[in-house]
Amino acid sequence: MIAIASDHGGYALKQELLRHLEKQGVEFKDFGCYSEASCDYPAYAKAVAGAVKSGEAEKGILICGTGIGMSIAANKVPGIRAAAVSDCFTAKATREHNDANILCLGGRTVGPELALMIADIFLTTPFSGAERHARRIAQIEEN
Ligand code: RB5
Repeated sequence: MIAIASDHGGYALKQELLRHLEKQGVEFKDFGCYSEASCDYPAYAKAVAGAVKSGEAEKGILICGTGIGMSIAANKVPGIRAAAVSDCFTAKATREHNDANILCLGGRTVGPELALMIADIFLTTPFSGAERHARRIAQIEEN
């Protein structure tokens, strides 16, 4: 299951993404928000990060105006590696190198077609498993 949420700045793109995933038969859970009314992104970031951390969700997607606020908030949760992505190369690299478990998109910065392509790449690219990448990821969690 893919956990998805947005704030008002990402709401329109999230609706496109939900339709796209539905067409593909990808199982997802929408953690809100549910309209374009102004709201605060940290609560949504924490909800999706919690679902990924607990194992309820395999991966997460968070959308705000830029993807930045969501990524900052989600990365406060131990074990979460949230990547703000706006191009296809980075979508692939952050899965292969960082084993990123949450994709953050900007509803005001990335067009819908590119965003859907980024999401597809993020959801289908496996972690490389290379020792050097696993070592660096383990170092992130060290105090
Ligand atoms: C909301 O106006 C905007 O600040 C938010 O969507 C996000 O871009 C924050 O990083």
